[in-house]
Amino acid sequence: MIFTVAIDGPAAAGKGTIAKAVAAHFGFELLDTGLLYRAVAKKTLDGMDAVAAAKALSSHDLQRDGLRTAKVGQLASKVAAMPKVRAELIAFQKRFARMEGGAVLDGRDIGTVICPEAEVKFYVTASDTVRAHRRWLELVQKNPDILEEEVLAQLTERDKRDSERKVAPLKPADDALLLDTTELTIEAAVNKAIEAIKTRQAQGRE
Ligand code: DC
Repeated sequence: MIFTVAIDGPAAAGKGTIAKAVAAHFGFELLDTGLLYRAVAKKTLDGMDAVAAAKALSSHDLQRDGLRTAKVGQLASKVAAMPKVRAELIAFQKRFARMEGGAVLDGRDIGTVICPEAEVKFYVTASDTVRAHRRWLELVQKNPDILEEEVLAQLTERDKRDSERKVAPLKPADDALLLDTTELTIEAAVNKAIEAIKTRQAQGRE
């Protein structure tokens, strides 16, 4: 059985949490594609060229400490705007998406570029202030001095770059279901996603 769930949206909208819950519910494999760009960014901090880093990316690189910091997130957004970096990472993601047994991928371009044929696509979003607050709650645990307005400014800058870049910009696929988590608890958003997938699976069996 091949079945792909594509989850796109801006930073800190709840994509990762929804992707994890959906993958666990249906027993699908999960790929956080942002981690690929974060791992490339981290290698450039070690002095490596971004394209060479993308070419040499290994599963070990995805397990390194420090990939989730705000600094690495900003740099990930910059390397992700480089067409040659994206080109190095595309084949792996496309294969992952269509693997036997079902796959969930979350990112910015999954429904539009990586897997336009995905059986279900979600575009997860939330207001800027709600997303900044959520991200601040995560980051403040490791960096008690970080300010919420600083997080908001970085998030807006990153979303602008991700949406305005020439290659694979962040945007909803035409056939994506919109999940706005501004007023929705994560549990409610997860339930909506699960119901939409079940409906699609039932259509596939008809
Ligand atoms: O989802 P994240 O915050 O971990 O992603 C980090 C950056 O990686 C994001 O700002 C843009 C880039 N990215 C991308 O360009 N395409 C993807 N499919 C996933 C992430």
